[in-house]
Amino acid sequence: MRKLANILVTGGAGFIGVNYIRYMLEKNPTFTGRIINLDALTYAGNAASLCDIAEKFGGSRYVFEHGNICDSELVESVFKKYGIDTVVHFAAESHVDRSILGPRAFIETNVMGTFTLLEAARNIWTESAVLFHHVSTDEVYGSLGETGYFTETTPYDPRSPYSACKAASDHLAMAYCHTYGLPVTLSNCSNNYGPCQFPEKLIPLMILNMLEGKALPVYGDGKNIRDWLYVEDHNAAVWTVMQQGREGEQYNIGGENEWENIKLLNVLIGIVAKKTGKDPTQIQSTITYVTDRPGHDRRYAIDCSKIKNELGWKQSVSFEKGLERTVDWYLNNPQWIEGIRSGEYKNWIAKNYGER
Ligand code: NAD
Ligand code: DAU
Repeated sequence: MRKLANILVTGGAGFIGVNYIRYMLEKNPTFTGRIINLDALTYAGNAASLCDIAEKFGGSRYVFEHGNICDSELVESVFKKYGIDTVVHFAAESHVDRSILGPRAFIETNVMGTFTLLEAARNIWTESAVLFHHVSTDEVYGSLGETGYFTETTPYDPRSPYSACKAASDHLAMAYCHTYGLPVTLSNCSNNYGPCQFPEKLIPLMILNMLEGKALPVYGDGKNIRDWLYVEDHNAAVWTVMQQGREGEQYNIGGENEWENIKLLNVLIGIVAKKTGKDPTQIQSTITYVTDRPGHDRRYAIDCSKIKNELGWKQSVSFEKGLERTVDWYLNNPQWIEGIRSGEYKNWIAKNYGER
């Protein structure tokens, strides 16, 4: 039996991590332990996303530690200080476009940071009731043509610096399991959407640009396909794997919900128009086809029958409901948007793309 009592969440101030902590503490009665959130607060992290959680659960069930996962001394001290028995490793540089413009930070955090955490676990853990759950992406499998799905046995074929270093970190995690006997599970998920996603990613970027009357930049022909999953469903799947997943096993998680970018954008326009009273035809006229992302993967689609059949997980939020909730969240949280946009993000966008 795994302890799952003192869980180190890395990257818990980012999009999926914030939603994971919220899910665990507010919506998951099967978890009664404590969460230690270790986050460096890069441009993508915002500790304020969990202010209410810190107030409600601070001290006894929730602790925030500000720090870098590449700092081995700090990581080891956090393991010892809190008696960490479980790691769920979300922290990463996560945006493909940034990895193309500047890969170094991706290698440092995604490869060296993962290595540092694995080393701490290997050096400190002496019991067997521990778990290192590594959170990864479907992008490690490369790009699909018009048909077919990624399964857990699809050979890795990463094609961007981001996916290449996520692939490296997956291999490291599995190697620590096979070589040192470290209890490791691994999950590879498709595109997430939901509250608190940094507005450089497709869905929040488009929502905010619509609200602000800015152009909607569509890469290439707009026909690239992604498989979308509501973030809470991803986090429920991660928890399922942490409880029941077999050591040394990899689980694909997906929405079974494929959309061409341009079709998704048109659905989103309809929802934003309905909720704001804006004219949908006027919003549509702001769609602008822009230069494609170099090496842009054409299609991702996940076969998630393994986690469904073996562990009993399934998606619970329909795309329509999930998008409605997401748009509502961005409409109701202008302070969060202002906060996260006020720092480095603004400068980065201006430098690399001009105002968008
Ligand atoms: P994000 O960019 O929104 O958040 C990343 C978080 O990690 C931020 O809070 C940031 O401050 C923190 N961080 C970055 N470097 C750090 C470092 N060196 N030390 C400590 N903290 C650091 O990312 P996300 O979208 O929440 O993704 C989380 C994980 O899920 C990543 O591993 C990503 O590869 C994976 N994933 C994401 C998606 C998706 O659609 N977003 C899908 C599948 C898998
Ligand atoms: O598949 C899982 C991955 O999904 C995660 O591992 C990554 O961390 C996450 O960022 C996401 O990667 P994508 O590259 O698929 O997400 P992004 O939101 O950047 O882009 C989604 C699609 O939309 C992609 O085909 C590129 C396109 N796009 C994106 C942006 C930001 C546009 O057409 N215009 C845009 O402005």
